[in-house]
This record gives sequence, C-alpha cells and structure tokens, in this order.
Amino acid sequence: MTATKSQYFIDLEHHYGAHNYHPLPVVLEKGEGTFVWDVEGKKYYDFLSAYSAVNQGHCHPKIIQALIHQSTKINLTSRAFHNNLLGEYEKFITHYFGYDKVLPMNTGVEGGETALKLARKWGYTIKGIEENKAKILFVEGNFWGRTLAAISSSTDPSSTTGFGPFMPGYEIIPYNNLPVLEEKLKDKNVAAFMFEPIQGEAGVVVPDEGYLKGVRDLCTTHNVLMIADEVQTGLCRTGKMLACDYENVKPDILILGKALSGGVLPISAVLANDEIMLCIKPGEHGSTFGGNPMACAVAMAALKVLTDENLAENAQLMGDIFRARMQKINSPLITDVRGKGLLNAIVIKPFGENKTAYDVCLTLKENGLLAKQTHGDIIRFAPPLVINEEQINAACDIIEQTILGLLK
Ligand SMILES: Cc1ncc(COP(=O)(O)O)c(C=O)c1O
Repeated sequence: MTATKSQYFIDLEHHYGAHNYHPLPVVLEKGEGTFVWDVEGKKYYDFLSAYSAVNQGHCHPKIIQALIHQSTKINLTSRAFHNNLLGEYEKFITHYFGYDKVLPMNTGVEGGETALKLARKWGYTIKGIEENKAKILFVEGNFWGRTLAAISSSTDPSSTTGFGPFMPGYEIIPYNNLPVLEEKLKDKNVAAFMFEPIQGEAGVVVPDEGYLKGVRDLCTTHNVLMIADEVQTGLCRTGKMLACDYENVKPDILILGKALSGGVLPISAVLANDEIMLCIKPGEHGSTFGGNPMACAVAMAALKVLTDENLAENAQLMGDIFRARMQKINSPLITDVRGKGLLNAIVIKPFGENKTAYDVCLTLKENGLLAKQTHGDIIRFAPPLVINEEQINAACDIIEQTILGLLK
C-alpha cells in the first residue's frame, strides 16, 4: 500500500505534466523547519531547501502568520494603483541592503531580466553607448533561469540545445578570471558584467579569494555596472547576508529572489541606486504581480527572520561543521568537498556499474535525507539555515554511512 501511494502521485505527474524535470521518486506533503515528510509519513532531512528558497525553514510561523494576515485583507492591486504596503516594503528593503531604490518582481529569472534591462538603459542614457550596441558580459557556467534571455548566456548544452536563435549583445568569458575580464571591459560598449559570487547550479563553484574585490575594482575603473546575481547565494545562505559581503563589495545592481519569501511565494527584487534605477520610466518595465501586498508582507517577515534568528551566523557555524565532517569521510568516492556557509557540494567519482551522484541521492533518500545531484557528479547540500548542531551531525551521519555503504 505505502509504495503505491507515492507511485500514484508520480504517475499522475508523469501522465499529465510536461516532462521538463526528473525529480527523485519522493512525494512530499508536509514540511516543518529542517524536515519534510512524504505521503507515506516518512520523515527526511531536507538538504536542498527548494534550491535555497527555504532558508528560513519550512512553514516558518512568522512568515506564515504574515501570509495569513495579509491574505484576508488584500492580495493583489496591480501597479495600476498604489497599495498601503509597497512603500513600506520598499523603504524596509532598501534600508536593509543600503540602496536608493528597489524594483519588485516575482521569480529570480525576472530579476535577472530586470537587471539587464536596467543595465542596457543605463548604458545608452548615462554611459553614452551608441543605440543597440550595448554588450553584457557573463561567465561560463552561469545559471540565472530558463527564459530565452537567460539561456542565451548559458554554456550548458542541456539549457540551449534546440532553443536558438539567442539574444544578441552577450559575451561569455571564463569565471574566476580577472585578466580576461579586464581585457573585455576595455570595450566601450560593455554596459555590465553579471555573475554569481558563488556559482550554485554549476555545482557550488567558489572563486578565488580576491575575485569579488577584483571584479568591483575593474568595473569601477571601466565604468561598467557590476551585477551580482545573489538569487541563490544571498539571504544568509553562504554564511553572510550576501556572498559579496565576504569581500565587502557592493554591486551596482543586486538581484535577490528565492528566500526573499522563505519559499512561500515567488518574490524577487532588484536593488540599485538612483542613477541606475531612474533610467527606467513609467511604462517601460513591470509585472502584474510584482510588488503585490502579499509579497510585500511576506518579504518583510522573511527578511526579519533572517536577522532576528541570526541565520547568517548559524549558516557559517553549521557549514564549518558540515565541511569538516565531509572532509573526514574516508572514501575514494569523494573527490572534492567545497562551499561556504550552508551552500556546499561534494564531488562523487562514478562507481559500480555506471553509478553516479544520482544513485547516491537515491540511497540518501532511502536513509532519510533529500539532496539533488547536479551535472552528474556533484551533490549539493543546502539545508534550511535553521538547522541546529544536533541535526547537522545527525544528517552528516546519514551521509557518511550512505557513502561508506556504497562500496561494500
Ligand atoms: C543564481 C540564480 N539566479 C536565478 C535563478 C532563477 O530563479 P527562478 O527559478 O526563481 O526564476 C536561479 C535558480 O536556480 C539561480 O540559482
């Protein structure tokens, strides 16, 4: 009976839904803090946190309270009218991150799109780039979503194959390479450089120390906008409020998403100062749902939880324990352990008969921990930031026993 229940839901999705994902065979119906439960009632450590959207933990009571409270008053006004929460939220988030203005959107990819539109407008109106000549620089391995504008900057064939033609005005350079960046920035048509301070989807790729500061200095010198995509790395995930805080650099445009709602709603935000943000005029950009009162209430609650519960500090402490425990596992299967705070990954050597990181994730699931592989050989471990020491150690025990058991 039990296995049949999960299978019923899996079959339903398979039959009626597009096949654009390949999920692990687990059907979840409940979440609380660090844990999720499947439809058979089995409890798991959640070590994905919905790709870092659930930093505050599943169903955080303060976020849910804000959601419920606001949902009974008014949900959506559109931006055709003002609402009584948008300004409050805008003041709150701009003070929180130290920018003049915010542009609210919904998904992370819309945040990226917004940042690029802002950069192009700024390029033409402030920097003086000739019309239609603006270029944006990206790095290899970047990931910022699945729209045509986003995949046009991708170097991953599974993102791009069969979806051309692509957006013009993009150039892709190696990640973590300041000399190449410096060379490219000399081109007067470059409006912006967009990158992740740690590449999440690429497999938690951490650049060398000094890279963020180097990017900041080069962008300033060459009058090019530094756009930091902190949709995954931001909001305490890496052990600081922003990953850019590790080198005390402030991007010209900051993109946030995911945990801005604690996983409750799609909420994203683009932050910048007036010189950039005021380049976009009424009617030139927007979204029906962006800045809706529900999102404003939820985002303020979600941001308050991050600071009230010292989640950056906890991510740093728990992340240190996690990496130390992973490094101690004595198995030829693990070829690398990397990450910052609670955004970590281990690299798994193929084993047995064509077995990969996916098979490790299947066994982890059997053992009560959910994680997802990326690029075949990497497993990302990103639990909710509310995880405590006892829980992180118990989760590390599961991972250790799973890995050690695989070669038996
Ligand atoms: C760094 C980064 N930017 C943008 C996105 C896109 O966010 P969304 O899926 O909400 O559009 C993602 C999603 O994984 C991401 O990791």
